[in-house]
Amino acid sequence: MIDILASPDLVALRAADVITEGLVSLCGGTLGLATGATMLQIYARLVDRFRSGTISFCEVTFFNLDEYIGIPRTATGSFRTFMHRCFFDLVDVDPARAHLPDGMSSDVSSEALRYEALIRASGGIDLQLLGIGSNGHIGFNEPGSDFGSRTREVLLTEATRVANAPYFAKGAEVPHRAVTMGIGTILESRKILLIATGKHKAEAISAALSGPLSTACPASALRRHPNVHIICDAAAASHIVGCVAVQTQ
Ligand code: PGA
Repeated sequence: MIDILASPDLVALRAADVITEGLVSLCGGTLGLATGATMLQIYARLVDRFRSGTISFCEVTFFNLDEYIGIPRTATGSFRTFMHRCFFDLVDVDPARAHLPDGMSSDVSSEALRYEALIRASGGIDLQLLGIGSNGHIGFNEPGSDFGSRTREVLLTEATRVANAPYFAKGAEVPHRAVTMGIGTILESRKILLIATGKHKAEAISAALSGPLSTACPASALRRHPNVHIICDAAAASHIVGCVAVQTQ
């Protein structure tokens, strides 16, 4: 299902609706989280709902998609810092239920296995929130990532490092490596909510929906999942061709 909405504001509102309805119907449940500029407004709308008493997060278990390798958890650019600043510290999240991969582990392969086991032990992810890179990446699964890949160490492309540089302190280097849930891990989520806003995402969205099913566009793997809900703004949808079931508002 695809919703195409007029503005990023409406996209964030719709995404917050889908997440809220999903979590309320599950009386908690397990939510996969993403980072990045697209997510900021969505977390802000979820915080609004918490403050107005519409939703509580204390029974929800969270798994973030990815984390940089080799920077402290509290570094300005870490995804843990992002999540605390934009969401965890502003709502009633139970810290024991808020998981990110440990990018400071001395043994990333073991850490990746631990993270996968933790997701399984929590019963799997009910709803996975996803952004998309302009190069079609999901999580930090860059082009070329196998559709069956699991949580693992990856090398970031230069384009991804440049896109994420604004989150780092002035002069701090964006790490070259990260640990990310794999595409296979993501595809095991019961439902996936993919969000894209802005013209710079138009090509990636079009390739994901109607380009070849290919590791050149990691997001094209989502076509193998039976329950993906895409919410994007008109700019991000502007290159979609031959797409049915588009709802325009
Ligand atoms: P963005 O990142 O929201 O900052 O564009 C999305 C992503 O890279 O997955």
